[in-house]
Amino acid sequence: MKPKLLDLFCGAGGASMGYYRAGFEVVGVDINPQPHYPFEFHQADALTYPLEGFDAYHASPPCKADNQAIICRPKHENARAKYKRLIAPTRELLLKAGKPFVIENVPLARKQLHNPIMLCGTHFGLKLRRHRYFELQGFTILFAPASCACKGKAGYTASSHGIGHISSFEQGAKLISVAGHNFKVADAQVAMDIDWTGQGGLSQAIPPAYTEYIGKYLMQAVIGEKVEDNIC
Ligand SMILES: C[S@@+](CC[C@H](N)C(=O)[O-])C[C@H]1O[C@@H](n2cnc3c(N)ncnc32)[C@H](O)[C@@H]1O
Repeated sequence: MKPKLLDLFCGAGGASMGYYRAGFEVVGVDINPQPHYPFEFHQADALTYPLEGFDAYHASPPCKADNQAIICRPKHENARAKYKRLIAPTRELLLKAGKPFVIENVPLARKQLHNPIMLCGTHFGLKLRRHRYFELQGFTILFAPASCACKGKAGYTASSHGIGHISSFEQGAKLISVAGHNFKVADAQVAMDIDWTGQGGLSQAIPPAYTEYIGKYLMQAVIGEKVEDNIC
């Protein structure tokens, strides 16, 4: 039987797919319907969903209060006050469950995470610049790159909230933003290696490559097998 991982705030399942590829049976929970989610799904509040019966957990709490693409638009200037931050309450619940877990979030939320590692599409040979931060609890990754191929180049923007990173993928010489609605779904699907969901799911998803990488180490913590490092 495969070890079971519960993906809280699962969205369309980008993170889930990576853990599945790493060998986990995956169950997802989201407060909104997720018609494209590719595994067992429960529509529920992640903060009250029962945690028993799982070997490991992943959580991607909503990032609207810290999302560069949202808070930098004038009409959303109150976003930081309006949207709840759920990283701390999620951590509190998962620590009580007593199993290894991962909490993921966007660059502007990284200070709410404990000793996070940063992963980017360019670490995995994808033409994708999407930085995501991962707090690892109950296991470690021996090698995690501190910087990536896109650091300091186009795709970074300065705003009143500091230097941030707009997710984008390369198309020839152009960088196409994966935030919002202004990208072609088919192109973003290729860039992110996600072919089962459309614009809404893609704009929020983690490419499966990130959690497949993390998932191999998580699997090691759960079943005690050696992991081969495959990052660029
Ligand atoms: C950033 S997205 C997750 C993306 C996902 N990790 C992926 O790779 O596809 C955050 C998700 O949290 C969900 N959400 C927000 N509040 C929630 C809650 N209280 N309980 C469960 N899900 C919630 C949203 O519907 C959204 O799908």
